[in-house]
Amino acid sequence: MIVASAPGKVILFGEHAVVYGEPALVGAIERRVRVSARRLKEGVLRVYSDALGEGREFSLDELQDAGGAFRYVKRAVGVAFEEAGESSGLELRISSELPPASGLGSSAAVAVATLKAVLALLGADVGAERLASLGHRVELEVQGSASPTDTAAATYGGVLFVRPGRGIERLSLEGELPLIVGNTRKERSTKLLVARVRELREALPEVVDPIIGSIGRVTREARRCLEEGELSRVGMLMNINHGLLEALGVSTEELSRLVHIARSAGAEGAKLTGAGGGGCMLALAGERHGRVLEALGKRCEAMPAGVTFQGVRIEGGR
Ligand code: MEV
Repeated sequence: MIVASAPGKVILFGEHAVVYGEPALVGAIERRVRVSARRLKEGVLRVYSDALGEGREFSLDELQDAGGAFRYVKRAVGVAFEEAGESSGLELRISSELPPASGLGSSAAVAVATLKAVLALLGADVGAERLASLGHRVELEVQGSASPTDTAAATYGGVLFVRPGRGIERLSLEGELPLIVGNTRKERSTKLLVARVRELREALPEVVDPIIGSIGRVTREARRCLEEGELSRVGMLMNINHGLLEALGVSTEELSRLVHIARSAGAEGAKLTGAGGGGCMLALAGERHGRVLEALGKRCEAMPAGVTFQGVRIEGGR
């Protein structure tokens, strides 16, 4: 048996704009998805999920199907078999510390941890760059459209500056990033939200393209401020980024209310994180960490989100 784990993520800056080639800043967080894999004699894929409390069995022919339950797992196994040039009956057990469909990267963590575990089990482990690209392929096939941001965070860990098609850089930060995540607990589909922004852009390209370009400029400036430890400017930029995401139509009343609650409680800045439409918001808490956590905690599930430098890893095997 092989166990692999991968972290979730928060997008600090640049969600949605990154789908159109602008950069994104993403941080891997200390909440992980674990996938344990063992070979089966029968030629089937059996998947159990702790969160769903259920198991499903698929024939190995079904692995091409990028829809339905466990779609990220099925495609990750299919892609791993292709990469290894070998297939096998498998049992996978998945446990997750990440709420699903909430903007914290659980799908990417599932895809990357599954790839890692299955490739290791088949003796076909690959390097991080290849793994990140296989993870991105899984997300693309399932979602139709996806940037490499979430799968990069799940693979490498740390805080990353992601430029689609132009590489991924790991940032070295001055000091800690005191982040708090507020979860509306409203699940939503990244695929639908990405499609909604695409429709808006197609309807009003002259209006929407400059908004996307502005998010890119905010993200580049935020990188500089993060690297120089200018947290109050990072906060200002988060507030601007949230306004631009509202303009793209991906915030909700609840998300924006939480963003304002965090700011009123003294956060340096706050914004939605991930695709929006529900899911999570993110606050940069600064010195008033306790107050921000308490204020958010009255309205939603609020939790500190420490950045982890541990990307995907093998946890143990026998
Ligand atoms: C989802 O976590 C972030 C989006 O930018 C989509 C993507 O990058 O694939 C909304």
